[in-house]
Amino acid sequence: MKKIAVLTSGGDAPGMNAAIRAVVRACAFNQLECVGVFRGLQGLIEGDFKEMGPRSVKNIINRGGTILKSARSKEFRTPEGRAKAYAQLQKAEVDALVVIGGDGTFTGASVFMSEYDMPIVGLPGTIDNDINGTDYTIGYDTALNTVVEAIDKIRDTANSHNRLFLIEVMGRDAGDIALNAGIGAGAEEILIPEQNLGRERLINSLKRSKKSGKSSSIVVVAEGDQSGKNIFELADYVRENLDDYEVKVTVLGHIQRGGSPSCYDRVLASRLGVGAVDALLSGARGVMIGVANNKVVSVPFEEAIKGDNEIDLDLIRVADITSV
Ligand code: F6P
Repeated sequence: MKKIAVLTSGGDAPGMNAAIRAVVRACAFNQLECVGVFRGLQGLIEGDFKEMGPRSVKNIINRGGTILKSARSKEFRTPEGRAKAYAQLQKAEVDALVVIGGDGTFTGASVFMSEYDMPIVGLPGTIDNDINGTDYTIGYDTALNTVVEAIDKIRDTANSHNRLFLIEVMGRDAGDIALNAGIGAGAEEILIPEQNLGRERLINSLKRSKKSGKSSSIVVVAEGDQSGKNIFELADYVRENLDDYEVKVTVLGHIQRGGSPSCYDRVLASRLGVGAVDALLSGARGVMIGVANNKVVSVPFEEAIKGDNEIDLDLIRVADITSV
């Protein structure tokens, strides 16, 4: 193996730059050439490549986003698109690929590997933490801290005006951000896609907490929660069924994807980036490098992307007890 390419794909996440840096430097350390691919799997199709030496990744460990840019590629889902991508890799004499992204990226990489002889190793890069086989994904910790900081600020104003805030956080299919940030920010209720308990229960719980002496309330709602058609419709339902508070909505949106990565994410990304190059050198292919019980582990792509997101039931219990 002489040359490794690295790319970031799907939604960006803080810490992706630290992961790119680690891959590039692990290549240099092992006397391998490294090529950066711009705009993810779409850039692979278009041959948007750049040679990367160890100094090309200076001063990026602290930066959010991804210097390689990211994209969601429709063309890569077609056999023609993947054929073009393979031709570009051959032309650039690339021997192996590191892809940093989420389940869509790993699915694309799996299909590509079933068609072409190209070793690929993946790193979990998404704020959602919705990948199996790794305890944390790169960007998740930073996003949690961003969300908690934002909710702390909302709490100040909620409390001053005796208001109820419904706060939407990211997580199309996963409630990890909502549940953990909700506990960390002291939310009264947390609504997640994995557990649809219904609107009535929400109203009863808010009534109970009002009776118990609370003067304001924070409800964290994951983007993928099904309690309402959307958070605004859910807010209307709460207004109609609860007179105790004035109800406001805040959608945190893409602020959650930006910002300087936390120390945890920088260290995680560095460990996994080095782990990806180690794995390729030891002959691994078709696996994601993740972390489980604080050890770097390798998980087959099929395992990483399979099934539904599992939620820690103990966390739900803690959320219920601490919001009493
Ligand atoms: O996959 C991460 C994520 O942040 C999801 O939680 C969210 O639904 C989605 O990306 C939004 O992505 P985009 O802005 O790229 O459409």
